[in-house]
Amino acid sequence: MPQSQYVWPYPEWIAHRGAGRAAPENTLAAFRLGASHGFRMMEYDVKLTADDVPVLLHDDTLERTSTGTGRAADFRYAELARHDFGAWHSPIYAGEPIATLYGIAAYTRANGIYSNIEIKPTTGMETHTGERIAMLARQLWEGADQPPLLSSFSEQALAAARDAVPELPRALLIEEELPPDWRERIRWLECKGLNLNGRYLTREIVQQVRDAELTLAVWTVNDPERAREFLDWGCNAIITDEIVTMAPGQA
Ligand code: G3P
Ligand code: MG
Repeated sequence: MPQSQYVWPYPEWIAHRGAGRAAPENTLAAFRLGASHGFRMMEYDVKLTADDVPVLLHDDTLERTSTGTGRAADFRYAELARHDFGAWHSPIYAGEPIATLYGIAAYTRANGIYSNIEIKPTTGMETHTGERIAMLARQLWEGADQPPLLSSFSEQALAAARDAVPELPRALLIEEELPPDWRERIRWLECKGLNLNGRYLTREIVQQVRDAELTLAVWTVNDPERAREFLDWGCNAIITDEIVTMAPGQA
């Protein structure tokens, strides 16, 4: 599939997990806070419950960001809804429920916010998660001026998303250094671009990716000078936790 002609249609600044560390990650409260600081695009992690409900959660397990314990994928949505996903962060967020992709689609669309949905499958559920999230994204963003960008570290999930809904834009996430065969992987997955770890990014890599006519978003960049440097090198977007010091228009 030719990668040319695709121009990054999203903002330059993306709030990581809704509002970085300023609010409980991946909750609607975080999205509202990120938006209040001027962010017009959010990155967030989505996986499936036991009854196939798409929920926002980074880890496989519940302990770190909720009052629950165990693997989220072992519980039905109604069971997860009993837990508190905000109190771990600070008392003002106590009572915050687990966010669903349904609610987040409604909020972001109503407020002109773009989405980078990171498909974060529970280990072992890669293909089903990629397929289902892509199908839900198509349905929930039908008629939107821009569809969500789907990204994942899981090539299995991205391949499933490609097969289910080929028209949705996809980006491959790479945890550490770029593997030597990155161009082949991108071609096979029919991705529009790469979402790379800023720790391993060099000017040469940016040049190679842009020469391949691929988009490039960088995570998680919390230093404004570093972010500016990445943009100057030709990166399309910065994914940041620092929603206050790096609010769009400030950094
Ligand atoms: O999508 C960028 C970034 O969120 C990937 O890492 O672990 O924060 O989901 P992680
Ligand atoms: Mg993420």
